[in-house]
This record gives sequence, C-alpha cells and structure tokens, in this order.
Amino acid sequence: MITYASVVHQPGPATSFAYEEMELAPPGPQEVLVKHHAIGVNFIDTYFRSGLYPWTGPLPIIPGAEASGEVMEAGSSVSHLQAGDRIAYTVPNGAYCQHRVIAADRVVKLPDDIPYETAAAIMVKGLTAQYLLRSTFNVQSGHTILIHAAAGGVGLLAGQWAAHLGATVIGTAGSADKAQLALQHGYHHVINYREQDFVQEVQKITSGQGVEVVYDSVGQDTYPYSLQCLKRRGMWVCFGQSSGVIEDFDLRHLVQHGSLFATRPTLFDYIPTYDTLHAASEQLFDMLLKGHLKVQVGQKASLKEVANVHQQLEGRKTVGSSILTT
Ligand SMILES: NC(=O)c1ccc[n+]([C@@H]2O[C@H](COP(=O)([O-])OP(=O)(O)OC[C@H]3O[C@@H](n4cnc5c(N)ncnc54)[C@H](OP(=O)(O)O)[C@@H]3O)[C@@H](O)[C@H]2O)c1
Repeated sequence: MITYASVVHQPGPATSFAYEEMELAPPGPQEVLVKHHAIGVNFIDTYFRSGLYPWTGPLPIIPGAEASGEVMEAGSSVSHLQAGDRIAYTVPNGAYCQHRVIAADRVVKLPDDIPYETAAAIMVKGLTAQYLLRSTFNVQSGHTILIHAAAGGVGLLAGQWAAHLGATVIGTAGSADKAQLALQHGYHHVINYREQDFVQEVQKITSGQGVEVVYDSVGQDTYPYSLQCLKRRGMWVCFGQSSGVIEDFDLRHLVQHGSLFATRPTLFDYIPTYDTLHAASEQLFDMLLKGHLKVQVGQKASLKEVANVHQQLEGRKTVGSSILTT
C-alpha cells in the first residue's frame, strides 16, 4: 500500500524534512500493519535527523520513537493483537508516517480510556520515567531527588511519579514559566538554573545533605555540577544530552564527591522483550488511569509540520510532550 512519511535524505537541520509518499509491504507473520492516529516527538529524534546518532537502517531516515493508532492487519503468527485493536508502541525509529509495518512484540494494546494523543505523548517519556524511578534507582518515600529539565516531556511525568512514590522532588527549569508548570506537576522545589546556581540551591534545600539521586538529561551544561548535588554514595543517572555530549567524563569526580555511582541508561535496555515492555506499560497505564499522572501536551502539529516542532524542541521552547497528528 501507499502511505506518507516525513523523511530526511541527508542528516541536517530541522528544515531537512520532506513529506513524501512511501510504499509499504504487507506485514510478515510476526508483524502488524498499523494506522497511526498520533505520533510523539522526542529529543532523540533530533539526533537521528541531525546525524549526531548514526543512521544504520535503510534510507531515507524516518525518525520517531512512539505512536498510537489501530491495527489494520496482523501477521499470521501474531496472537496478542488483531485488526481493529487500539494500540501504542515505542521503538527507536520510523514513526513519522501515517501507516507502518512493525514487529508485533513492540506493540501493546491501549486501554479504551486512554486517548490516542495521550498515548503518543507518554510511551517513550512515561516508560522512561518508569524505568528511571523504579529500576535504575529505586526511589522510595523519604528520598530527596533532583530532576533536570523538570518542565520537559520526561521531566513533567517523572516529577509526578516521584512525588507519588513519596519522594521530595527538586527540579531545575530554564524559565520562570517552566518552573511554575513543574510546580503544578509534582515538584516541591524548582530552581531556575539560568538565574540561580543549582548546586547552591540544592544544598540550601537539603540543609547541606545533598540528594540520593540526580536524573540528568541536560548533559554537557550540568556536568560535573550535578555530582556536587549528591549525598555520599549517591547516584548520577545521566540519561540524555540536550545541551551537548559530555566529552570529558572524569572517573575521579566520583571519588572526589563521595564514592558516587554513575550510569548512562537507555530505555530500550529496560524493555528488551515483549514481557518487559508489557509489564512497564501496564504500570504506566495504571498510573494514568488512577489519576496519578497528568499529561501535558504542550505542542501539537501535523506530521507535515514536524520541522517546526524540532526547531522548538532544540531551542528550549517546548514544555511537556510534543505530538504530531496524521
Ligand atoms: N536514555 C533514555 O532512555 C531517554 C529516554 C527519553 C529521553 N531521553 C533524553 O531525555 C531528555 C529529555 O527528552 P524530552 O524529549 O523529554 O525533551 P525535553 O526535556 O522536553 O526537552 C529538552 C529540554 O532540555 C533542556 N535543555 C537544557 N539545555 C538545553 C539546550 N542547550 N538545548 C536544548 N534543550 C536544553 C530544556 O529545558 P530547560 O529550558 O528547562 O532547561 C529543554 O526543554 C533528552 O535529552 C532525551 O534525549 C533519554
């Protein structure tokens, strides 16, 4: 069948996108053909578009790591999905299109009470919050934690989830408006790190004790300062690099700041199988359906207009999640 996609022929700036016709083969035995209703935009998409992350698949480049929609056709060996099912998924790439054929074991059924646009806004960002807070470091009631880019897509979901777990949640954000939004999404304290020294502020808030864990997606600009916010034997979770790649990581900083732990995790290592994806998705959907997570879709555009969304995301102009409609 013929569908349409926003593609990139040569890695480059956001203006490199073209909206083009694409031919789709029928699904294989373990695949499903899906019609997208909404597609999430994530920071990682900008890396594949720009060439920061090398593209190893067939050309053209089709970014996009999450979407929701309905199954149009299921392959002969697929048992958990059938035509007409409402679904959502996350995979590293390929979601910026109207229809796609995808491995069925990357796809979960979407509860009826979760709208398509909400699902597209949370599959990557919410599952990231889930593994960061429940697996990478097991946040408990009584912990004090720091999350950078608190008003961002992952940031708003992680703040609410951590507060629900009983932690005291400190965030950083790049403007007063973003700080205000984060305070409405679970954060107990938010530091505008363009105006205030976040290390000093964290030390003040914690009476010099520091935090158990720092979730750092900013990268270059916050390293090594995030380490100075930690308690002895605390954990630095560097899960992104929105301000640029850290080129000069120095192991000695870990001993200088109190026998610290450091990790650089990625979502797909926490949901490598259908069972792990399904279990994590169930937790995420449950949090949503019980009202513990509010989903903020800050930006909505059509699939054709994805270049604008990438420009806003890279320019620090977004809040919450960004989605594309088909
Ligand atoms: N490892 C994983 O499993 C995983 C999974 C999902 C996402 N991530 C990473 O997590 C981060 C958040 O993803 P997201 O999609 O939710 O994006 P996002 O947080 O909504 O957007 C990025 C935010 O980073 C902050 N930032 C600080 N310095 C920046 C700079 N120089 N340029 C651009 N932004 C800057 C901005 O917030 P302020 O203005 O408030 O600083 C900006 O809004 C990204 O780095 C992404 O790659 C990692």
